[in-house]
Order: sequence, then structure tokens, then C-alpha cells
Amino acid sequence: MENKWLSEAFRGEVPDFHGRVGWQCPSNIALVKYWGKKGKQIPQNPSISFTLSECCTETFVEFEKADRFGFNFFFEGKEKPAFGAKIEKFLMDNQAFFPFINQLNLKVESRNSFPHSSGIASSASSMSAFVMCLMEIESLLTGPSTGSGTLTKASYFSRLASGSAARSVFPKMALWGATEGYQGSSDEYAVSLADDIHPVFKTYHDSILIVSGETKSVSSRAGHALMEGNPYAPARYAQANENIKNLLTALKSGDLDTFINITESEALQLHALMMCSNPSFILMKPNTLNLINEIRTFRNETKIPLCFTLDAGPNVHLLYPEQEADKVEYYIKTVLADYCDRERWIADRVGDGPKKLLR
Ligand code: PMV
Repeated sequence: MENKWLSEAFRGEVPDFHGRVGWQCPSNIALVKYWGKKGKQIPQNPSISFTLSECCTETFVEFEKADRFGFNFFFEGKEKPAFGAKIEKFLMDNQAFFPFINQLNLKVESRNSFPHSSGIASSASSMSAFVMCLMEIESLLTGPSTGSGTLTKASYFSRLASGSAARSVFPKMALWGATEGYQGSSDEYAVSLADDIHPVFKTYHDSILIVSGETKSVSSRAGHALMEGNPYAPARYAQANENIKNLLTALKSGDLDTFINITESEALQLHALMMCSNPSFILMKPNTLNLINEIRTFRNETKIPLCFTLDAGPNVHLLYPEQEADKVEYYIKTVLADYCDRERWIADRVGDGPKKLLR
């Protein structure tokens, strides 16, 4: 695949042109977690995620012909070179795929739909939104590419920019990482699961309970690296592969009990791995545990099939189907919000993937 996209790259003279393109891309929340990588952003195990709807990045790229590569990055209206450094590095490291950038001046403007200091990671949404813009600029040079391969290519490049971003370009649900359980799956890009899931999962809500809006004390890059010396890593990768197989079956049949069991176990394993790395670290806060206990008690008492997952941080993602939304939202407002930072939570749900912006 790499060769296909390398050979497709536009290597000609960029015409005297300029313009502006824009894309909105969502964040995603993993159910089976990607934690540990090798080589060039190759996951140690496959992962599965819900694509979100409300937590998005909007990116516009203004481009014009130039003698050499030029790059400016604006975040929420202000020039922020440090925020753009990851994109610039991605472009420099992967010039072979985008040689035309050396004849372009790029002005990137990005903003997130989710509030500042909400502890929501933006690299998946921001990197995939930038990649969609870059591919659109390329298509202005080469002629539009068509067909399903476009999103696969977007996923491949998003992965090079930020691993989990590979999953953000597909609607509903995505699988990233090669597994025998799914034909066509790959370590190099994600694939859509939208046609292989029970309709109930397309209605899922993700209410993000903000326990703390502080930025993470340990970056995910450092966390992945610590898996290299983690004595439990081989067992973890075996377990993740098993969980992928069983979750794929449960997603197809609509088996909510298995879904809940795997999703919660994966969230706790992710944090357990952090706690047994060397050096170890803890990203949960006391209210993360209080919420987990509340949610489990509520599920046992009411039989409502809600469950939690965690990202690499203290916030709790509460997952439940649309048919339970009224009851669960009442429960959030009356009970769970008390454990949140200033009673903050974000009502998100499964979404439809990237959107082209017209302005
Ligand atoms: O894409 P990265 O390198 O930020 O890693 C993401 C890791 C987790 O968010 C913890 C899990 C996942 O699969 O999204």
C-alpha cells in the first residue's frame, strides 16, 4: 500500500494557484485500546472505536504557490507555532508522500468544538482534519480521487500523524490493526465497521463526564513508550486480540452484556498498565473511581445497559443506547454531575465522520 500512495504522489510543477480548503473531523473513543506501538506508528494490537459527533476539530488551510515550503499555524484565531509543530513535523517526515508541499505556502487555522481545558485529547480530530485538507489540495493538483480508497488513504496518513487519528475518518465505528477476525483489516490504516454492527450501536451516546480539565501529566507518546519495558505487555497484547475477536462478534449480534464486559475491562486494563509501568503513573482521580462505582451500582439496580470507558485521563465516558437516553441523562444531572468538575459533562454520541467545510 505504501508504494501505491508513494507512486500516486504529485511530483510535478505546482501551477500558480491559491485557495482555501476546510474540513471538520471528529474525535473518537476507543473500546479496545491501542496502547503500545512499534516501528512507524504500527500498533502492537488492534483497536476498535466509536467515532464521535460533537467533539470535533475544524481546520482550514489557505495555500498559495511559493518557492519553498512555508507554514503558519493559528489556533482559535491566534498564531500558535507550538501547536502546529506536530503537523509541521508530520509534513517534514512524510515529504515523500507530499512532495508538492515544497512549492506551497500553507496557512493553517484550527479550532476545536469542545471547550478548552476539558481534558479531551484533540490529536485524533486535529490530525485527521489536517490530512483531509492536505488530500483535498493534492486532489486539486491531480484531479479528484474517487471511491472508498480515499478514506483509506486519509486513514493511512492520519495514522502517520497520530496513531488513533487513523480511526477518526470513518463514520460510526472503526477497526485499526490487523486481526484474523476481520478481513481487510490492517496495521497501516483503519477500516470502517459501519456495515458490520447491530443498529443499536449506531444510536450510542457518549456522555463525557469531566472529572478534571487539566492537561495530562504523561503524554500518550510517553505512555506507549513505557509499554516496551512493561512485564505485562505480552499478556496485554494477547488479551487485546482476544477482546477484539469477541467484541466484533458482540457488535454484530447486538450482545450488550459482552459489549459492557469487554469495554469496561479494556478501560481498567489501560489504567492498570499505566500503574505497572516503570516509572508508574496514575491518571485516574478519586472521582473517576467514584463515578465507576456509581455507574456499576446503577446498572445492577436498574438493569439499564450503560457502561463506562476511560481514555488516557481521568474523565469518564458513559456509553448507552438511545433508547435509554432520557433515564440516563436524568441520572447524570441528578447524581453523576456532582462528581464532575463544576458539574461539567459533554453530551456526545456516535457520529458520521469527516465533513467538508464550505467557507
Ligand atoms: O493516538 P495516540 O498516540 O494519542 O494514542 C491513543 C491512546 C489511547 O487514547 C489511550 C487509546 C486509543 O486507542 O485511542
